[in-house]
Amino acid sequence: MPSIVIVGAQWGDEGKGKIVDALAARADVVVRFQGGDNAGHTVYSGDKKYVFHILPSGILRSGVLCVIGGGVVLNLKNLGEELQTIRIPETDWRRRLRISGEVHLILPCHIAMDQASETLRGKGKIGTTLRGIGPAYADRAARTGVRLADTLDESWFRTQLRSCLDAKRGCLPEAQARDVCDADRVADEILALAKPYAGLIADAGQLLADARRKRKNILFEGAQGTMLDVGAGTYPYVTSSHTVAGGVCVGAGVGPHDIDRIIGVVKAYTTRVGEGPFPSELHDATGEMLRKIGGEYGATTGRPRRCGWLDLVQLRRAVRLNSLDEIVVTKLDVLDALDRIGICTAYRVGGRRVTEWPVNPVDVQQAEPEWEYLPGWQCATDGVTTFAKLPKAARRYIRTIEKRLEVPVTMISAGKDRAQLIIRKPAFGKK
Ligand code: GDP
Ligand code: IMO
Ligand code: MG
Repeated sequence: MPSIVIVGAQWGDEGKGKIVDALAARADVVVRFQGGDNAGHTVYSGDKKYVFHILPSGILRSGVLCVIGGGVVLNLKNLGEELQTIRIPETDWRRRLRISGEVHLILPCHIAMDQASETLRGKGKIGTTLRGIGPAYADRAARTGVRLADTLDESWFRTQLRSCLDAKRGCLPEAQARDVCDADRVADEILALAKPYAGLIADAGQLLADARRKRKNILFEGAQGTMLDVGAGTYPYVTSSHTVAGGVCVGAGVGPHDIDRIIGVVKAYTTRVGEGPFPSELHDATGEMLRKIGGEYGATTGRPRRCGWLDLVQLRRAVRLNSLDEIVVTKLDVLDALDRIGICTAYRVGGRRVTEWPVNPVDVQQAEPEWEYLPGWQCATDGVTTFAKLPKAARRYIRTIEKRLEVPVTMISAGKDRAQLIIRKPAFGKK
């Protein structure tokens, strides 16, 4: 039984939530391994819409164990609110949710620092989700953070928290620091928030090793996307975690041999939310149309997403960085009305034609896309359930992606509902 990784191949919001939820119908375990509640993963089931920020998108499937791995940063208050919103009975989520003791806690000071750092950057701001993600990961790397497991011993937690907050006081305006760096008050608040989850704290790596030994189907759910990876992304316009498939090992506590397949989710066009380079961005009416038809507004912040055509230079990089075995193309239906569809095949940088992602960040900023156009199909694809029934031009578009990226497209999503999925090769075989 395989362990499958699902990662975003672009700048996030590729439709990972929908795909993870769909595949979770055959999974036993779904694991988040990085990021925090900066993620917004949307799942439509019938007329119900769910947006998951921190809960694994397998939570709607009643037999699935959901694990929040140690590579995640956790806002306990928002976890509580999310559990309330999804309206799953407490007895059910208590049975099916496990959280690694290694997760680092997002504290009120992290949120304040995220805001302060964006304000300080002014025009050069990252455009973060203001969820405190960067400062929480910074504390983790600086060894000044607090972890969920730390809350299991009150006195230990108070000591760890105090040293964490002492280091922050000078970084924030005095009045704000008095509030968010008040060690006693914050400790009381976090300890109270953590208490309901004490029984859910687990060694996620051990739990996953047991599941694998029992030949369970495991899904690792990536958040954000490859180009937002703190190392390989468009630094500094990135998030603060490793979003690529390699992040699974350190974030979930499994070894590299415990991964069987890696699936990249590719939106049929490209979007990005927040600042930073985006070579295939469209600043014209077509870009606006993609935003409108695709409903491209952030699931976490509501911000309009920047839109553009598919970028093969960027995607080849994602194929390589993630060792993608397969691709899922999502939101194909958004292109239904178009008479032609662009793909970026190369960049022009300072008069040169380049087909690889430039090393120099200034070259990335200045990269001009070289376009190729394919015919549109101008008919509805949503509701189509087999590849053969897709219009000819849509099949050609998919085959072009496969050919140029040298990776098979094994699933195609045309429509937001969990049932609207063309499966060319099932992810999990029969149980
Ligand atoms: P994620 O962060 O990768 O899970 O993606 P988001 O949920 O942030 O954004 C994807 C958006 O596209 C959501 O609103 C989904 O409901 C929607 N979506 C996913 N797949 C499809 C599709 O095939 N067609 C259409 N029209 N919408 C889709
Ligand atoms: P999902 O999982 C798209 C972006 C932010 C910002 C940058 C850093 O739904 O695909 P952060 O708050 O992480 O410090 O912000 O990363 N970003 C996302 N963009 N989808 C996401 O998640 C994102 N999570 C963060 O907009 O540019
Ligand atoms: Mg999203």
